Amino acid sequence: MQFRGFWVIQTVSTTPFNDQKPGTSGLRKKVRIFQQPHYAENFVQSVFDSLEDFAGQTLVVGGDGRYLNREVIQIVIKMAAANGFGRVIVGQGGILSTPAASHLIRSAGAFGGLVLSASHNPGGPDEDFGIKYNIGNGGPAPEKVTDAIAARSLVIDSYKILEAADVDIDLIGTSQLGAMTVEVVDPVTAYADLMESLFDFAAIRAQIAGGFTLAFDSMSAVTGPYAAEIFERRLGAPAGTVMNGTPLPDFGHHHPDPNLVHAKQLYDRMMAADAPDFGAASDGDGDRNLIIGRHSYVTPSDSLAVLAANAHLAPGYKAGLKGIARSMPTSGAADRVAEKLGAPLYETPTGWKFFGNLLDAGMATICGEESAGTGSDHVREKDGIWAVLLWLNILAVRQQSVAAIMADHWATYGRNYYARHDYEAIAKDKADALMAALRGALATLPGTGNSGGTVKSADDFAYTDPTDQSVSRNQGVRILFEDGSRVVFRLSGTGTEGATLRVYIERYVGPDGDLGLETGDALAPLIAAAQDVADIAGYTGMDKPSVIT
Ligand code: G1P
Ligand code: ZN
Repeated sequence: MQFRGFWVIQTVSTTPFNDQKPGTSGLRKKVRIFQQPHYAENFVQSVFDSLEDFAGQTLVVGGDGRYLNREVIQIVIKMAAANGFGRVIVGQGGILSTPAASHLIRSAGAFGGLVLSASHNPGGPDEDFGIKYNIGNGGPAPEKVTDAIAARSLVIDSYKILEAADVDIDLIGTSQLGAMTVEVVDPVTAYADLMESLFDFAAIRAQIAGGFTLAFDSMSAVTGPYAAEIFERRLGAPAGTVMNGTPLPDFGHHHPDPNLVHAKQLYDRMMAADAPDFGAASDGDGDRNLIIGRHSYVTPSDSLAVLAANAHLAPGYKAGLKGIARSMPTSGAADRVAEKLGAPLYETPTGWKFFGNLLDAGMATICGEESAGTGSDHVREKDGIWAVLLWLNILAVRQQSVAAIMADHWATYGRNYYARHDYEAIAKDKADALMAALRGALATLPGTGNSGGTVKSADDFAYTDPTDQSVSRNQGVRILFEDGSRVVFRLSGTGTEGATLRVYIERYVGPDGDLGLETGDALAPLIAAAQDVADIAGYTGMDKPSVIT
């Protein structure tokens, strides 16, 4: 035991839990698992033990407000003090969206940050919680750090925590905890200022003042206060523009995942006769986005392509793009934009961390994933509100509807019909067997025909990071057809129950082809081929996906 002033550093004996290997999105588990004695403490200590030379440095901490957020924040603050951090910056009320945390880490010159969230997974006592460590560039920790955390978590035998009363995280200001300073900051202002520096707020404000209407669904999650400040206060949209704007510990029993299934309230509003001109939603921690124009849904892959093609219309991107990056399963729509712009296109494995390296190296400016994540070099995470503001800026400059912008885009570049089919909560061994069988069949597929057409090539995606030459293998099975269509299979790395098989289906139609098909019709033969090639029904017992996005 050590004494420092009136505070006592306790070294608490513990034993490993053996299940704390963080994935691409940190450690995600059921709340009940996190509530076991020492569980959160073990993970936080494993993180600290895997870092070097942080004595006296700054740690940022905040989360999406979900159940357990406030309790774990107190643990993190007391452990940071006991472990020798010099300063903790915490969002008021424990709130920080993931992009705002990324910005704060960067602007404060912090050593790193702990972001408490399970993203778009539901919250509440029976739902999910998560802790993710971000490094000093503001982005998710690279694999060498997460591997070190996992290794440490297997042998941990004690953790350090300050014996102290809880810090008042609702009061903005600075206080002292042992030798460490605790700064409680407004979670919104610095982020809103960053947005204002990138986009033409005056043009958007004028557009809204002129009668342009929008709806933003915060899904009772973290973006509520950000959206109210930015859309209603700074841009002058009327009160009520932000729907479900109060962050709730259980997200009002909703699944804060901005897709057509879970953001149905917004979708229905956007399809109604009196729909606003523009609708958008964000997820639990504010890094994802859903874009729906009046009567016109925009797929995330198309959204990335449109944002990249028009980014120069926003002040922050008027110099053009250094490059565009997309995850492998994301459609090739952005590739055609990159080609036209003469900008390099990077195809990376799923997960934001691969983009971070490209952004740090100045090789890419805009990045995106089919899973509704888009962002740029302004932070090192994807950013939901950023994507919405870039759309609004483009709409304000072009003075066209979302539907007209999409039609124009397809007429220029062609259209990538696209859908993702998720088969959720499959037994893990069945899911592994399905993937193993697909991998085993790769060599025999080229040249064979099925309802999707003739297979041109089939492989298991591997990526060599151009910044450090590191290689990531087994990132998803791709079957490419002669006509440019594609089917991709991979298992989710973020679920907390069983396994989820994701099947990504894409068909390209050139500018002179049929651009007005229903997506389901356009993809039907490929969907049948995908189900057949992988024998999805045979392995999973499911004859249709649980979620289609
Ligand atoms: C999912 C998305 C992926 C995203 C990740 C973290 O991962 O598919 O694009 O980067 O969440 O938000 P998955 O569950 O597919 O491994
Ligand atoms: Zn998220």
